[in-house]
Amino acid sequence: MKFNIKNGNPEKQRGACVVVGVFEPRKLTEAAEAMDKIADGYIGGLLRSGDMEGKAGSALVLHNVPNTLCERILLVGLGKEQALSDKAYCDVVRSSFKALHGTGATDATLFLNEVPVKNRETAWKVSQTAIIAMESRYRFDRLKSQVEETKPHLRKVTLCTMNDGSRVELAASEEALQQGLAIADGMNLAKDLGNLAPNICTPTYLTEQAIDLAKAYKLKVTVLEQKDMEKLGMGALLAVARGSQQPAKLIALEYWGRTKKEKPVVLVGKGVTFDTGGISLKPAAEMDEMKYDMCGAASVLGTITAVAKMRLSVNVIGIIPTTENMPGGNATKPGDVVTSMSGQTVEILNTDAEGRLILCDALTYAERYEPETVIDIATLTGACVIALGHVASGLLSADEELAEELLQASGQAADPAWRLPLWDEYQEQLKSNFADIANIGGRAAGTITAACFLSRFTKKYRWAHLDIAGTAWKSGKEKGATGRPVPLLTQFLIGRATKKGSAEHKSK
Ligand code: BES
Ligand code: MN
Ligand code: ZN
Repeated sequence: MKFNIKNGNPEKQRGACVVVGVFEPRKLTEAAEAMDKIADGYIGGLLRSGDMEGKAGSALVLHNVPNTLCERILLVGLGKEQALSDKAYCDVVRSSFKALHGTGATDATLFLNEVPVKNRETAWKVSQTAIIAMESRYRFDRLKSQVEETKPHLRKVTLCTMNDGSRVELAASEEALQQGLAIADGMNLAKDLGNLAPNICTPTYLTEQAIDLAKAYKLKVTVLEQKDMEKLGMGALLAVARGSQQPAKLIALEYWGRTKKEKPVVLVGKGVTFDTGGISLKPAAEMDEMKYDMCGAASVLGTITAVAKMRLSVNVIGIIPTTENMPGGNATKPGDVVTSMSGQTVEILNTDAEGRLILCDALTYAERYEPETVIDIATLTGACVIALGHVASGLLSADEELAEELLQASGQAADPAWRLPLWDEYQEQLKSNFADIANIGGRAAGTITAACFLSRFTKKYRWAHLDIAGTAWKSGKEKGATGRPVPLLTQFLIGRATKKGSAEHKSK
């Protein structure tokens, strides 16, 4: 799909489809009004005869409207006339693309930039529209022997602004478009990796993907094999890998967009390519979804893709510990005590709490980059799905400023996150009679105690944790990876790049 940005008048657009909005009840937007005028009141007439109220999410395709130069007009309902919320606007754009894909139109010109959205400028609408458009076309049919025939694809999308806005405004929109498309590309990669079957997307496969990315964007990549990890003393990570026939890896991907003197942001992504639970075996129902247990890793690769595409002025390192979690004769048992790279010993009371075990060694490994900030991203706890459902990712950090910055980025990116407390009171639950720390803290506050576990390994830098167990994929009929939190992470880094030269984030 090709995108472009311009200023123009709706009634002057040729092409397959012009998209304009209608408020409820039956109130034309300025763009719809312009179309109606040239069509001698044809559209207004249709509304009066009850064909469209303007309810949010509704859509009506009109063909061969008198006097117009375009083949179709798509009327989209905007709901009551008022500044829309972020979500309401995104829903309108989503239903527009759904309707467009239902027509044979190969190109479309959208006049939705003028629709008012609370506290948002045109640039925001442009990048969201690009992301939603790309999402509307995403399919994962790589593993099907026959691909369903679909209608001719929408190939060209023009985002039109009505006022003859200044050049400055167009430049801002153009930049926002490029950002939106980069985020969409990163999300697509994250989705593909998540959706791939777990017999294909193994630790070795993820490693090959990282190497491919490194080649494509001239990044530095380092891959630690099991013998390297043994030398480093990564006993926690290796304990998870013991039951698997697939060799575990630790991938480090480096993007240096600024001078190496500036400390990098390190993103650590959980890369369990299949989580059976190990000896603490999971129940059979929906176990296939544990192929998504590498979505943290996928979001790191997706974010680095987006950052590299934009050539963002930031330093970012992606670290991905990756393994399967399998039962087997050699697998780790409940009660086993292992020594992590940090030197802390861990009593593994439940082998299904494996994410924190691979992350803790990766977090210690991150120290060698002298990070300014470390963010780990993980499908870590079922408890997070219970707490926040499939709407918000869990955010935990002891650093107020960093938490605030991430929440800000989350809002801007329309990729919701919600903060949970990380108070010392919860650390109690991780006490072990036989080692420095236990790997589970009981049923209560499972998301928080998981983060508490990780916090023991993050003393040397500013750190935040994102639990994406509820947001990285959808279950049921719509089963599939979402590409989250690539938008949040990329937006966070865009924010860092924009703060160019500010002393604030140069050091701790
Ligand atoms: N990958 C799972 C978390 C998960 C479960 C994500 C369901 C999404 C849906 C993780 O490795 C896990 O099994 N966590 C356990 C931890 C428990 C044993 C303390 C959990 O949440 O049940
Ligand atoms: Mn598990
Ligand atoms: Zn897991």
